[in-house]
Amino acid sequence: MKPFANKYNLLSNKNMDIKVEKSNGLTGTIEIPADKSITHRAFMFAALTKGRVKVTNYSKGADCMSTLKIVQQLGCSVEFLNEKELIIDATNALKEPTEALDCGNSGTTTRLMLGILAGQDFDCKMHGDESLSKRPMKRVISPLEQMGANFAHNDFKLPLTVKGAHLKGIKYNSPLASAQVKSCLLLAGLFAEGTTSITEPYKSRNHTELMFEYMGADINVDGNTVNINKSQLSPCDITVCGDISSAAFFMIAAAIIPNSNIIIKNVGINETRAGIIEVLKDMNANIALLNERIISGEKVADIQVKYSNLKATTIEGEIIPRLIDEIPIIAVAATQAEGTTVIKDAQDLRNKEADRITAVKVELEKLGANIEETPDGLIIQGKTELTGDCEIECYHDHRIAMSTYVAGLICKKPIKINEFQWVNISFPEFLDLINELK
Ligand code: S3P
Repeated sequence: MKPFANKYNLLSNKNMDIKVEKSNGLTGTIEIPADKSITHRAFMFAALTKGRVKVTNYSKGADCMSTLKIVQQLGCSVEFLNEKELIIDATNALKEPTEALDCGNSGTTTRLMLGILAGQDFDCKMHGDESLSKRPMKRVISPLEQMGANFAHNDFKLPLTVKGAHLKGIKYNSPLASAQVKSCLLLAGLFAEGTTSITEPYKSRNHTELMFEYMGADINVDGNTVNINKSQLSPCDITVCGDISSAAFFMIAAAIIPNSNIIIKNVGINETRAGIIEVLKDMNANIALLNERIISGEKVADIQVKYSNLKATTIEGEIIPRLIDEIPIIAVAATQAEGTTVIKDAQDLRNKEADRITAVKVELEKLGANIEETPDGLIIQGKTELTGDCEIECYHDHRIAMSTYVAGLICKKPIKINEFQWVNISFPEFLDLINELK
């Protein structure tokens, strides 16, 4: 596969150690690149339509490229029309891949693809990088096995083999509020006899439900329960909005760097995903949503953020799944907020690309933050002047890389971040956009 005019060296292992210096303020307007979660879904769901789907404004991060490559291995052809648009032709999909599927660093690729592959009439092998091979897959393998799926695995981890099977619907009470678990089972439900029903303790992001409705699946949502009957998705064009998880780094950078005033255009603000906006409002941030609209079933706005006198907050319970990926950057904001910020109920952060609770505590402490780790979260005392003058590790984790970068922008002395190339997993355009605002 040759992505159209991709100037970013996405999957290169070349080390990129960078220096970050204090900023005097971020100003200007940027457009945030396409949402990673929604792009994964657009690519995978297109592969199930037996037709042609045009995807506009897709994420060019390495994770979504892993999904796109797998979709091709399963029989789809991909035509890159220009820098923003591609067509997935699924007329001959799904078919048995000739080689193992490489999920790279991507948990979403693995868990959602498992839901698709479990109900096919062929087998396939899946593997991933070192970090992904340590991540727990039992959360999806166990319920899929209850549906009749068959796997060969070692301790519920990658590498594994999916042995295609005939699935039947189940009622599943998920112990986790996880959109990956929910989406995996909804995808399996497309191929299963009868009704598949998933209930989660709190509502996780609902991009799958919205896109399934948009593509004509027989789905209904009742509070925290989603029911799906065996369905065929219909081809349609999908436009992907900007990624609020990527925008979060800019929102918080502007809120904590004096003299900042930025507008971030085209950000997805789906409530099941936009907990960061509620938290920033609660922290007294100067934030405004402009030009609200709907794109391919998802709510979108332009977001203006100005430098703010932040105050501490408590983040716990039902909001956690709505901002799970933003906790590392929220921790950076908390170092600049007056008072004690407490983050709890976020133990699943230890199962992400890195153990993000420990990674955030260790690296922000090096910068001079007053931060304590708990089993399920963090306690941060503010406001603290960050000193910097140290070397930061990003644990092969894109969100740790970008969070420490933003912290570096308010450090008294420059910092060095090692292996910053991990940013390419979700947001290869990050440095270009930061430089536009400096
Ligand atoms: C995602 C769901 C979340 C999130 C991940 C993307 C998705 O994971 O952390 O980055 O696209 O469904 P969990 O479902 O494991 O919480």
